[in-house]
Amino acid sequence: MPKLNRMCPEMAGLKSLEELQKYSEQLNAEISSAHLYLSMAAYLDGKSLEGMAHWMKMQAQEELTHSAKFYAYINDINGSVQLDAIPKPDADYGSVKGVFEAVLKHEKHVTALIHKLVQLARNESDYATEIFLQWFVSEQVEEEANVSKLLDDLELIGDKPQGLFMLDRQLGARQAAGSSH
Ligand code: FEO
Repeated sequence: MPKLNRMCPEMAGLKSLEELQKYSEQLNAEISSAHLYLSMAAYLDGKSLEGMAHWMKMQAQEELTHSAKFYAYINDINGSVQLDAIPKPDADYGSVKGVFEAVLKHEKHVTALIHKLVQLARNESDYATEIFLQWFVSEQVEEEANVSKLLDDLELIGDKPQGLFMLDRQLGARQAAGSSH
């Protein structure tokens, strides 16, 4: 039996088509983020910075959990998940610092997307979605703060290989989100 929102959400008194479309767009944006971070991992592995590459692979996994949250929510509200093509990410970031600068730029972009979704939910008096999105608002603050701190560390390290080695070791210890260790 087709889900109501696939037919006519307004008539069913559920979310608007615009809202439903935006949730699928965000689901796809999270998958694209995972793809981007995996390409950054490949760049770092190519420079034998295995710890940083590991950090980036963890980041990619987290993005897939973000997309899964949207997937589940779209289903919970009887929406229809629409998957898009994944854009090809860059393969070369110029330098290690260039990689993390690109991460920060990307996360700021994602933050703006999440804030637009919150605004849309507010405009539509969609309180349930606004609560659902609060987790993402907080997550974006944390993600931007983490990357900004890494950029500060890289700034301090400059071109000292020892510092880069230590940071690589440190980032290699990153555990998956929710891990108790
Ligand atoms: Fe899903 Fe890095 O934001």
